Amino acid sequence: MTRARRVAAVLLLAVPATAGTKIVASAARGQDTPRRYTQSEVEAGRKLFQAGCASCHGEDGEGGLGPDIREAGAAAAHFQITTGRMPLADPDAQAVRKEPAYSDTQIDQLIAYVASLGNGPAIPTVDLSGTNLSTGAEIFIANCSPCHGATANGGATGRGSLAPSLHPSEPVIVAEAMITGPGQMPNFGFDAATRNEIIRYVRFLQARPNPGGADLGGIGPVPEGFAGLAIGMGALVLIALFIGKGRAHARGGVES
Ligand code: HEC
Ligand code: HEC
Repeated sequence: MTRARRVAAVLLLAVPATAGTKIVASAARGQDTPRRYTQSEVEAGRKLFQAGCASCHGEDGEGGLGPDIREAGAAAAHFQITTGRMPLADPDAQAVRKEPAYSDTQIDQLIAYVASLGNGPAIPTVDLSGTNLSTGAEIFIANCSPCHGATANGGATGRGSLAPSLHPSEPVIVAEAMITGPGQMPNFGFDAATRNEIIRYVRFLQARPNPGGADLGGIGPVPEGFAGLAIGMGALVLIALFIGKGRAHARGGVES
């Protein structure tokens, strides 16, 4: 056994026991069919919207200081309100994750109202059964790590905004981000199966005990980014070895 192979073997042992088992993300349970909202929810949501959102998004969601959200759908509303991004205080500032400003009931009402404005995407279903960790890793590294980092600790996008850490992101939030493309994140046209593969890998990164770069004392995105590059290169080598190993196992299997 070469030294590199031994390192890969240790990494494989570190894979949480959930690898290879079936997980259905609890956050998405019961959402297999898009939720139907009642007229009274839509009405209550309209009042909340007029008080807290219309100053930027317009009386009927047509836009103003903020974007037109008539086709944003329940997916974007759920993403923006449950992560506390909306309501925004300063329309020119990047929306960041914070405590939600509304109760669960009010959040449902606001989502009902935004969903009623057009034909935007519903809150997606996340189902991780049958996903393959190495497939998810490949897609994540190609599409997500350029901004969020190899270990999902976040980084600069190069366009003046920060791609946040994905460690607090619930599975349904990861799916919604890919569907709605918040802020400077691109809107990925992935199908549900591809999204689920990526979410499987994000959960794997979240479960790792000591994500590289997280404990540098908050010295700011640029130095952390450089350190992240060094740490990230090591992680990429390990992941590459890991994928090689996963491929060997998956040969003849059900890889999509
Ligand atoms: C071009 C850079 C870029 C790429 C590529 C990118 N993102 Fe993002 N992502 C962002 C930015 C910027 C934000 C913050 C959005 C905002 O301002 O609200 C974000 C936000 C997110 C969030 C919300 C985090 C939270 O919980 O609050 C998730 C989840 C996410 N991205 C997942 C992904 C995944 C998965 C991929 C790959 C399929 C990806 N991103 C690719 C830039 C990017
Ligand atoms: C101070 C102005 C302001 C207020 C108040 C505000 N928003 Fe926003 N909203 C914005 C801006 C600016 C963006 C675009 C931000 C971005 O792209 O990150 C945005 C983005 C959104 C989006 C995403 C649109 C998309 O196409 O993905 C939704 C949904 C949304 N807001 C809903 C709301 C709701 C609901 C409220 C009230 C609870 C609210 N906003 C309050 C300014 C505001």
